[in-house]
Amino acid sequence: MDVNRGLSGNSNGFDRAWPDDATRIPDWIYTDQDVYKREIEKIFLGRHWNYVGLECEVPEPGSYMRSYVGPFPVVVTRDMDGALHVFENRCAHRGVEFCREYRGKADSFICPYHNWTYDLKGDLTAIPFRRGVKGKGGAPKDFEMSEYGLRRFRVSTRGGVIFATACEDLESIEDYLGPEICAEFDATFDGTEFTLLGVHRNILPSNWKLYQENLKDPYHATLLHTYLTTFGLFVSSNESNIPTDKYGRHGGLLSRRPEGRPDVSEEEKSNMQAFKQTMELNDPRVLKFFPEADSKWSGSVLTIFPTLTALRQTNILNTRLLVPRGPNEFMMLWTVFGRSDDDEEMTRHRLRQNNIFGPAGFLGIEDNEALKFLQDGIRKAMPREGLAVLGEDDEATDTLITERAIRGMYRYYRDVMGF
Ligand SMILES: [Fe+2]
Repeated sequence: MDVNRGLSGNSNGFDRAWPDDATRIPDWIYTDQDVYKREIEKIFLGRHWNYVGLECEVPEPGSYMRSYVGPFPVVVTRDMDGALHVFENRCAHRGVEFCREYRGKADSFICPYHNWTYDLKGDLTAIPFRRGVKGKGGAPKDFEMSEYGLRRFRVSTRGGVIFATACEDLESIEDYLGPEICAEFDATFDGTEFTLLGVHRNILPSNWKLYQENLKDPYHATLLHTYLTTFGLFVSSNESNIPTDKYGRHGGLLSRRPEGRPDVSEEEKSNMQAFKQTMELNDPRVLKFFPEADSKWSGSVLTIFPTLTALRQTNILNTRLLVPRGPNEFMMLWTVFGRSDDDEEMTRHRLRQNNIFGPAGFLGIEDNEALKFLQDGIRKAMPREGLAVLGEDDEATDTLITERAIRGMYRYYRDVMGF
């Protein structure tokens, strides 16, 4: 091997030109501050719908919650007429991140520092001592409150999922998702009313894109995850499909679980160290599956570019919002939900199953660890390129041993970023 590969180039010690094809992914897209700044402009504030939350998180007039558009803190509100708004969580006066509670009900937001006050639409409605005291001090005579509202994002929803964008003329959510992904999106977000069951929140020392990759990577799922493979939720012999939209930016990882323990061949077993034939569950209820969606798939993970992943795995329903915090770190907000007509037992079942996921879930913890090690490798080691060479780009979409969806995302990413 040529140890100098990837080391020649400019004074930063690496070459910024992306290698010729998407099977080679340069380390610097995960670690470089300038790349990250460009992502903010081209991706998070660019021509994309950013997931910000679920309608069931702001169920009533006056409900609000904190969320993010890319790295930027925002507040999502439902005003007294029921309309949704997304605006920055940064006081127009001095910049305070004024909304401190994660969620709640309010009829206005008062910045704690100087008490500038905003309504549920993000308009500035009051500033203390506007006219000063005894005719002295105060805001300038020509100060117009209407000019100092909070910066707002355009909002759209589909099936109870809320998206926001800084772009004024973006396509509809339906067109943004594309027909292949929209069909599966609609199977989960089918118009039934949802209930918020809880939230996991954790920070990973890894680049945000690695998490999208992780969920476009069926290859790893059959290798890293003992729980998924051993109990048949996701094994290479399952019927499966890996659809992508026409740009390659969104993807699905769809799988149908067999009844009972999986029928795993000797060949598969010899390849899957994670598969533990003799492992049993103390509480097998955790695996029970009550079909609930109009879809043949028992497991569906959608990666919606840039920062949403939506999951339906047996009876777990959750979304994950990836919140970048610089190139080397991101926060994950997992929103776990059920259906409003679930009875007490179904709610318990969903919560029990949710032990798979979250910061320390049976399965979530393995990805969290793997991505930390991955970021460590690309951040500390001599720069090189990662490989995404498995599978063919024009093959049928029903094999799991492929990195086709990862390549798709990076072709799109490279175009948008202009690399
Ligand atoms: Fe994983």
